[in-house]
Amino acid sequence: MDPKTLIDTSLAIGLPVPAWFIELFRALGFTLHEVPMNLWYAGIVVAMVFYRVGGVHARRFSSRLMSQMPVIIALGVNFGIVPLLFIQVGYGQIFYPATILMAWFWLGVVALLIPAYYGIYIYASGLGREGDSMAPIKRFVGWASAVCFIAIGFIFSNALSLMENVPSWSELWLRHSFHGAALGTALNLTDVRLVPRWLLMFGLALTTTGVWIAVDSAWFARGESADYRSWARRYAFRVHTLGALWFGVAGAWYSLCTWSPRTIREMFLGGWAVLTVVTALSVLGPWLLLRRKGEIGRPRAALIGLAQLLVLGLNAVSRQVVQRHEIRPYYDLATQATDVQWGPLVGFLAAFGVGIAVVGWLIMQVARLPDGGRTFRRVRQAGDGSWEGAFRQANGGRRGHPPLRSPPAGLWLEVIQGRQV
Ligand code: HEM
Repeated sequence: MDPKTLIDTSLAIGLPVPAWFIELFRALGFTLHEVPMNLWYAGIVVAMVFYRVGGVHARRFSSRLMSQMPVIIALGVNFGIVPLLFIQVGYGQIFYPATILMAWFWLGVVALLIPAYYGIYIYASGLGREGDSMAPIKRFVGWASAVCFIAIGFIFSNALSLMENVPSWSELWLRHSFHGAALGTALNLTDVRLVPRWLLMFGLALTTTGVWIAVDSAWFARGESADYRSWARRYAFRVHTLGALWFGVAGAWYSLCTWSPRTIREMFLGGWAVLTVVTALSVLGPWLLLRRKGEIGRPRAALIGLAQLLVLGLNAVSRQVVQRHEIRPYYDLATQATDVQWGPLVGFLAAFGVGIAVVGWLIMQVARLPDGGRTFRRVRQAGDGSWEGAFRQANGGRRGHPPLRSPPAGLWLEVIQGRQV
């Protein structure tokens, strides 16, 4: 059976935006999704291991990351919607058959995400209230959430690799259907690209976690000791090195052993060779910056963060280019007719711009806090204990909203730290 018969060609209307716009925002959205996603994918595992076997500073980092996690997850899940929209608009004909074949697992993402997210809240609120004396059951919930997130990552890698594995669809459909109706019980397990791809994403997530240790200690951990900062510098480098080695091995396995000969030719010898080399080597950028001796101040941490963003952005672009080559015999975005719909396009751009600006503003408010929001907590404790009282006191006894720079930012920090969520 020709797998092309499973690709819907009945859509008469053209693409609502040009192909380049779809590719650009898919890559941009995925890069934004990837930063927080990496932190819950590998970061939670690192935090749990640090807590179990690490010393006092490792435990401190573990607590910091886990109490930031509710906000990190909220950002990452919302950013994930952007590439999801564009993948559906541009590649629906390929994306839908793949995810219908594995529908139960695909829907399982929601079933796993909700308890995992609750688990993180339970862990973070346990940290806020009980600190190190947190009940073992809450620690267990933290581990269970880490496993759920790894399982979700595995499902995503299945879906994205099955999208490219069009030749296998007919057989999967025949094995997982009932009188012609897909049962949705297939997974892409026999595809050689699945495991290296899954491992590649996890290695990349480890590098982001390493970078976060440095960025967090320079930008958000001003109340921490110099000892903690020196620990953060050393361990940021170690975790990043582990991730970079992991990424290198899995990346070589994935590209050299699983891409089709046509894609290998294009990506290594053809017009895309420069992109392949730059993507592979880009991971050395943050590594070299982390390796340099001396304290990591804010400017250096910002540079390391930007270098990692570049790594993730290049990765997002490369994976899309590879995907286009792999599926070209069945579907080519570039040859689709276009019929631009200006109304939704302008609405999307406006909402996207405002959303990014608000998130940026919130992060800057946290970074501006002089001592990690402690002043505001002290004010609250010294007053009648209520937030209203603390706001009034911080506002010089006046009613109404206090100056924006300090108390509300302190409140936001408490939210980020999971104490008020
Ligand atoms: C429910 C909210 C989420 C949405 C809407 C979402 C969206 C997406 C989208 C659209 C992609 C593909 C991007 C592309 O190729 O253009 C993707 C990839 C990925 N997502 Fe998410 N995501 C969500 C949650 C998660 C969670 C909870 C995890 C857990 C670890 C996760 C892990 C991944 C991974 C590992 C990939 C890369 C898979 C691969 O290419 O092998 N995502 N996500």
